[in-house]
Amino acid sequence: MMREPEVRKAADSINDDANHGKTISEIEHMVMDTLGYDPVHGFPHIERVMKLAFKLAEDFREVNFLVLKLAVLLHDIGRVEEETLHKHHALLSAEMAKNILAQYGFTENIINNVTDAILAHSYTLRYEPKTIEGRILSDADKLDALGAVGIMRVFMESAYRRRTLEETISHFYEKLFKLKDLMWTEKAKKMAEKRHRYMIEFLDRLEKEIEAEE
Ligand SMILES: [Fe+2]
Repeated sequence: MMREPEVRKAADSINDDANHGKTISEIEHMVMDTLGYDPVHGFPHIERVMKLAFKLAEDFREVNFLVLKLAVLLHDIGRVEEETLHKHHALLSAEMAKNILAQYGFTENIINNVTDAILAHSYTLRYEPKTIEGRILSDADKLDALGAVGIMRVFMESAYRRRTLEETISHFYEKLFKLKDLMWTEKAKKMAEKRHRYMIEFLDRLEKEIEAEE
């Protein structure tokens, strides 16, 4: 595709910038240390969302890659405090991101755009993203809950939360099957449709096998 090299160039330019490159790498390490390597919500999730976000961003010239990258890195940072503080992780992540970015001296504009994107990525809070970076983060995060990765995540999460198989299957209907209709960007809509179909197929097969059908 014609646009890919431009995106790469834009993305690399963040790292080429001596100050931002060092800062982003420091933030990246802080996120790794904080979230750990749990495949469901840990750093592997952040890495997958980053890849998805950059893929979705290919279709938009106006994307600010610094905002996007920071928003992806920090969007779940509040999860570590969620259970102790009984506050939604998107709200906590936005607060923590604001403090972290202020410490690194980012401009108010960057901080506001990053925190706004973080607040808008939540399925539960339902804030509408105001910017393209917010829409991309929301789509990328939801795509990571769909398809084969979505299936892997839901079963790992169910094991952790000791959900029964019935409760796990209900989760597909109550949440996961609704996600494809919440996408903002065209590419995400197409990708979500594909991942959604795969989950339906999987669940259909699972239910058949449970009933000992061939
Ligand atoms: Fe996430």
